[in-house]
Amino acid sequence: MAEDLNIQTGTKQEQYESLIPQIEGLLHGENNLVANLANISAALKQQFNWWWVGFYWVIDDELVLGPFQGPVACTRIKKSRGVCGGAWEQSKTLIVEDVEKFPGHIACSSASKSEIVVPVFNNGVIVGVLDVDSEHLAHYDEIDRLYLEKIVSLIPHP
Ligand code: SME
Repeated sequence: MAEDLNIQTGTKQEQYESLIPQIEGLLHGENNLVANLANISAALKQQFNWWWVGFYWVIDDELVLGPFQGPVACTRIKKSRGVCGGAWEQSKTLIVEDVEKFPGHIACSSASKSEIVVPVFNNGVIVGVLDVDSEHLAHYDEIDRLYLEKIVSLIPHP
């Protein structure tokens, strides 16, 4: 497929609705995990221009930094630590409107104000998380949860 992303304006739903088939196209026929996580991060960054978007992957009982777009970030997160470790431990998406009010939040960047972390499942087991950060408070809501959960469900697991 063409590697150019068609950037959509409009409501958040319209932006996700335009992006999802393009992500499906990017993933089609490719089963290399790093390539796919890299392209999903880039596509989300291009469409939404969030502060930080990327993956942490479960390796040896830790979350280890994977493909991402944005400033450098901490490389390893233990279970239950921070928003990422919390989403992993609780097996569910966590939406944090104000990271300063989240006990144990790991501040990779002082510019980050709100965050959503979405678990990635393979056969019912969490294999990683998608972490998205904004420099604005309360930037993520149920719409983001819905569409980001859909996007991570598209990831082929080799
Ligand atoms: N803030 C995250 C850590 C990862 S960075 O934001 C990229 C957390 O509390 O889990």
